Amino acid sequence: MYGMIHQAAREMVHTVADAETWSVILEKSGLDEEHFISAQTYTDDVTFALIGAIQGVTGMPIGDLLAAFGRYWIEFAASTSYRSVMEMAGNDLESLLNNLDRMHTSIKSTMPDADMPSFIVVHSDAQRLEVEYRSSRSGLEMFVKGLLEGLLERFDDEGDVSFDVREDHVAFTVDRRAAKVA
Ligand code: HEM
Repeated sequence: MYGMIHQAAREMVHTVADAETWSVILEKSGLDEEHFISAQTYTDDVTFALIGAIQGVTGMPIGDLLAAFGRYWIEFAASTSYRSVMEMAGNDLESLLNNLDRMHTSIKSTMPDADMPSFIVVHSDAQRLEVEYRSSRSGLEMFVKGLLEGLLERFDDEGDVSFDVREDHVAFTVDRRAAKVA
């Protein structure tokens, strides 16, 4: 994945922990500064080595860590030069998800080697939104859950995010009723 993803992980650790923790993680991961160039692409092994080292050092369960990273990514992306791209993609969850594939495609013009996922909103009403997520990668469901939670927060919206792994996609549900009752 692109170095921008690694930069976000580094920022997250600095925000929730400290520089010393980051040094330990960096050492454990076997990565060095060369792996944090935003516009450079690295194999997924590099990205997963970094995530594994964060998990090893913080002791966070991998699912919790991926979800936290997903939530963090929304804030991070909005703080970079891609802020306007995010703003143009929509001001509510449904609009943004409907525009997300187009948005990732436009980002690909600056990051041509990116292997982008696909999101299709298949249902939306006041109670519930359902979106199908497809990717060539597997095991990122909790990251996507965190991304959706981060988007809800961005739009001052509420909802419980759950998912069901199907044969060729993962079906996500954002249940707005459950959040209102809780
Ligand atoms: C301006 C904001 C965003 C930027 C710049 C951005 C950029 C990227 C980049 C560079 C990758 C890595 C692809 C690769 O290196 O192969 C990626 C992956 C991904 N993005 Fe975005 N993205 C943004 C917003 C979002 C949002 C709002 C979502 C919400 C669901 C999202 C969902 C994902 C997922 C799930 C992946 C992992 C790849 C996979 O599933 O295979 N992104 N994005």
